[in-house]
Amino acid sequence: MQKEVYTFADLQDWPQVTAGITPPIRLSVFGDPVAHSKSPAMHNAALAACGIDAQYVRLRIRPDELPGAVRALVENNFIGTNVTIPHKVAMLSLMDEVDENARKIGTVNTVLVDGDKLRGFNTDGPGIVRAVRSEFSVDLRDLRVMLLGAGGGAGRAIAMQCGFENCERLVLVNRTFEKAKALADELEPLFKGTRLIGPVARLEAIPWDEQQLAFQLQHTDLVINATSIGMKLSDPSPLPASILTPALMIYDTIYTAARTPLIRAADEVGARSANGLSMLLHQGALSFEIWFNREAPVEAMRAALQN
Ligand code: ATR
Repeated sequence: MQKEVYTFADLQDWPQVTAGITPPIRLSVFGDPVAHSKSPAMHNAALAACGIDAQYVRLRIRPDELPGAVRALVENNFIGTNVTIPHKVAMLSLMDEVDENARKIGTVNTVLVDGDKLRGFNTDGPGIVRAVRSEFSVDLRDLRVMLLGAGGGAGRAIAMQCGFENCERLVLVNRTFEKAKALADELEPLFKGTRLIGPVARLEAIPWDEQQLAFQLQHTDLVINATSIGMKLSDPSPLPASILTPALMIYDTIYTAARTPLIRAADEVGARSANGLSMLLHQGALSFEIWFNREAPVEAMRAALQN
């Protein structure tokens, strides 16, 4: 019998637990909690569209089970796994090889089983680049970006990617200011250089202060929300509509609703906006490309997410 969520105990008895299941389970997402993950729907649609005889499941793994779970991937002929909360940092030290992007970001969200070697990647950062291009037809590297939630895991991946892309300008905002400041210090070498854009610095960390936010928005093209504000529809918008302007592009990494509180605020002023489904889609497509070394069927994956 197929399960909605498998556990570490299942992994330890994998051949028996999965006997008779077709297509064979060869991909997963490790997380805790993981029951809400949309990744199986997206990846199973991709596997079916490509005629690949494998399926993707959720695995609820506790932090102390992670090393054993990773070993079980090799023993049970997995192609790889995705990794979500709370394992993205811990996974880094369990890999035999880590690609440069994942090492610099400090987290792994994609594991490839390569023979008896485990290789770690991070597709969250590259995922936002593709998402922004698909939603707004512009390249992140050409934009002045304000990032809300620079202290969180998602925020860090996005901030580092803005650095790698060498975007026009980056303003890091976080409720706990020290975390934004520390990240800005780390990113500083990536923003030294010849691009000069007038009266404001290319890289800044600011506290969560409405006056400062309003000022910085005058020198911003794209706002990215990487805080958890908006997960609940009753949440307020992380930025009030009163400080938004119609020329802004607004990207909310939250995808629990088509119109998150931030997107509703963007709509009030007529600014273009998008929710986080496209980032989920593109990080998934990039994981698929790592596992199968072929282009991902993005439209089939998108359709599965929208169901
Ligand atoms: P993830 O790893 O998914 O990004 P996280 O590490 O819990 O999640 O990060 C959540 C982010 O949302 C943090 O930047 C957090 O700010 P702090 O670093 O100050 O905690 C931010 N956040 C959460 N709730 C917030 C709120 N009510 N107001 C402002 N920022 C908030």
